[in-house]
Order: sequence, then structure tokens, then C-alpha cells
Amino acid sequence: MKHLLRTKSVEQSIRDTEAPEHRLRRDLSALDLVVFGVGVIIGTGIFVLTGEVARDKAGPAVAISFLLAAAVCGLAALCYAEFSSTVPVAGSAYTFSYATLGEFPAWIIGWDLILELALGAAVVSVGWSGYASALLADMGVTMPAEIVNPPGEQGGVVNVLAIGLVLAVTALLLVGIKVSSRVNAVVVTIKVAVVLLVIVAGLFYVKGENYRPFIPDAKSTPEVEGGHAPLMQVLFGITPVSYGWLGVFAAVAIVFFAYIGFDVVATAAEEARRPQRDLPIGLIGSLVVTAILYAAVSLVVVGMQRYTELSTGAPLADAFEAVGRPAFATIISVGAVAGLTTVVLILLLGQTRVFFAMSRDGLLPPWIAAVHPRFGTPYRSTVIMGVIVALLAGFIPLGKLAELVNIGTLFAFVVVSAGVVILRRTRPDLPRGFRTPLVPLVPALSVLACLFVMINLPVDTWLRFLAWMLVGVLVYAGYGYRHSRVRIAAATQVSEKS
Ligand code: ALA
Repeated sequence: MKHLLRTKSVEQSIRDTEAPEHRLRRDLSALDLVVFGVGVIIGTGIFVLTGEVARDKAGPAVAISFLLAAAVCGLAALCYAEFSSTVPVAGSAYTFSYATLGEFPAWIIGWDLILELALGAAVVSVGWSGYASALLADMGVTMPAEIVNPPGEQGGVVNVLAIGLVLAVTALLLVGIKVSSRVNAVVVTIKVAVVLLVIVAGLFYVKGENYRPFIPDAKSTPEVEGGHAPLMQVLFGITPVSYGWLGVFAAVAIVFFAYIGFDVVATAAEEARRPQRDLPIGLIGSLVVTAILYAAVSLVVVGMQRYTELSTGAPLADAFEAVGRPAFATIISVGAVAGLTTVVLILLLGQTRVFFAMSRDGLLPPWIAAVHPRFGTPYRSTVIMGVIVALLAGFIPLGKLAELVNIGTLFAFVVVSAGVVILRRTRPDLPRGFRTPLVPLVPALSVLACLFVMINLPVDTWLRFLAWMLVGVLVYAGYGYRHSRVRIAAATQVSEKS
């Protein structure tokens, strides 16, 4: 038990990054980090999920769901900011947990982050392939359904477009983070411009009657079977409902996906020039910008088209088609294709860094943690993760897995928020570039808010999540427990003393 909860000291974590063969370049400014944040945040959530969620769960009140989800993420961001400004080392929640809760919880979080980052990247690249093939069709290039649709959906067999995207992004990451962040900055500009275009141009087509009723009356949906109903509704014996406040909450649990990524800024901690100051700006700045954009976009879209008529594939573009403006629809598709690319890029970047940190600690084979002599990037973890994500995106139908990404991310937020309180007790002496306000109130609220969103996810998502975590426990028992560097170092010390 003692081994399982052995912590890796913050000083040790920082020292590890100084070892030349494991050192990443410190190359990112505060602005780079905000751009990174916005680049990974705006994606499938707003471009794709808005339509389905408004139509089936929240009605025009989807804007409230977006704001509530932002509030939940804001609480978590205040905790992430303290952590990442105290422990500025690649690996985000994984590293934080190692310094506070101990090795086993850290492993669990590292394993859990694969859901957020690798699975998230795969889900978004599948969304990207949908927009990309639509755009190609607009340009007169029709690709066979077998290679552009997710396997098993609309004639799809292997999603070659999605595989191509993931491999191209992997190549960018191999060359180095600075190149990637420059490419990213251009794409983020296009994406934000398109979102602003939707807001401004869409305003001219908004009709007041589309907002009535703003929160449609709750409607019972007994046809939703146990597995698909939110855990909360099943626990409290409520017949599954859509709309009303319960619908708004269920929508929060899904549109939460739209904010995933702000925490990835923390995974770039080791590569920030002045982590103490720049990380809090990066985390909170990108969250505020996107929350404002999302609330505005969703209000405009449900004002343009009655919520019951919103499309679920490309709701923003289709809303413009519906008001007779197809040219805008094409521009929006271009923005979505560019926009989703950077989301995949940054999620994959985060995943390679977490994987890198775990292998540096010996919880995964240490040869993975080598840094490329010329590019200064963790090239082995990049190639391995790139190939895994490409295979996932190409061969697995991922439609419903966004919810699994959400539950994994929320779980990490819970642990990080609790970790802030623990680290204040165990290491009050550490310099903190940013201090979470009102500790322990804010971290406690963050934990409760994340748990509330989690129980609004469907029962089958919970079951998948628990199964994945069980596999993680088995892998740790079979490998990490015996190879952990922290454990081996402690054992050597003990035997030297005796
Ligand atoms: N927040 C990212 C998106 O919506 C994951 O695509």
C-alpha cells in the first residue's frame, strides 16, 4: 500500500526535466499558450454537437448549457492554473497527481487521460473527415463512401481521410513544437474569423419566435432505454426526459466536449518560457474567449432556425443553407476543416507528452521517453501515439464515444481539484505562480460540479469508463508497479542504508 501511494517530489519532477536526454525546448509564450488553448477548444463541440443537443435535449436553452459547462470548466481551470504554475512539467494531471496523491492514482490519471487525449483526437478527426468530404464534394470531387465515412456508417469501411489527417499531424509534431504552434496560429485565426462570421452574419436572420419557448417543457422519453439514459435519471428513478432543466443538464454533459482542451495548455507546461505567469493566462484566457463565442454562436443558430429543424451533421453551415445563403455554408465548412485540424494536433500533442512523462517515470517502457537529438521532440511517443490514433480513427466507429471522452476528462478534473487542497497541506512551502482563490471552497465546488456533470452522462458511458479503468489497473499491476523509477530509487536507498 505504501508503494502505491508513494509520491514523486515536486523537486524531483522538475529535476527530471533538466536531464539532457529528456529535456524539451522552452519555447512558448503566454500568447502562444492562449492560441494553443483556443486552437484545441473550438472544434467538434460547437461545429457539430450544437445541433443535436439543441434539437434533442435543451432546445434554444442550449446557450445556457454552454455557459454552465464553461462555469464548471472555469472552476477546474482555477485549480489547474495553481497546479501547473507550481509543477511546470510535461504530463499535466498525471504529473500533478504523482506529486500529491501518489503513484497509483497518478497511473490511473495517466491511463484516464488517454480517453481524453487519444480518443478525443480520434473522435475529432472523424468529425473532420465528414466536413472535409463535404467540402471536396462542393468542389466537385466525390470520394467513394467506403473511404470517407466512419466504418459501418453510410457505406464506410475504412476512414482513409481521417487516417491521412492523423498521420499528417503526427509528422508536424515530429518536426517540433515551434513549427506546430506557428501553423496553429494561422489556422486558429481562420477558425475564429469563421465563428465571428456566423455570429455577425447570422444575426440578420434571427427570428424572435424561434426563441419561444426558450426552455421547452420537459418531455418524457420512455423509449430511451436504461443504458442510454443519464445515470442521474436512472439513480433517482425518473422516467428519462428531454428538455426542461433536466434536459439542459444532460446537454451540459455533452457540450462539455466543446471546452475540452483548455487543460491541455497545462500539458505544455514544460515547454513554456515563463510557466509561473504564462500558464494561468493561457488556461483562463482561452476559456473566457471560447465561452463568449459559444454562447453567442448557439444563440444565433437557434434564432435562425427552429430548434426542432436543426441539422445534426453540420448545424452551423446548414442553418445558413436554410435561410438561403449557401455561400456562407461553404465558408463555414472551410473554417471547420481548418479548425478541427488544430484540435487534433493539440490533443495529440498533449497525449504524446503525457505518454512521454509516464515512460520517463518508468511506468511505461523508458525507451519511449527518448528526445530527438535535432528536433528536441519526444519522437518515439509521438510516432507510437500517432499510429494508434490513426488506427482508432480509421477503423472504429466513434460516433458515440465523445461521451466517453467527457467522462474521462471530468474524472481528471475531479482529481486535480482535490489535489490542489492536498498539495496546500503537504507542501505549503512551494512557490506558487498562481494561487487558486478561496481554497478549499473553489476546489470543493469544482469537484462537486464535475461529479454532477458526470452523473448526467448515460449509464453505458459509465460502464465503458469503468471497464477501461479496470484494464488500466491490470496493466499497472503487470508492468508499472515493478518498473517505477521512484519505487526502484527508494528500494535502492533502503538497501544501501541497511
Ligand atoms: N473541444 C474540442 C472540440 O470541441 C475537443 O472539438
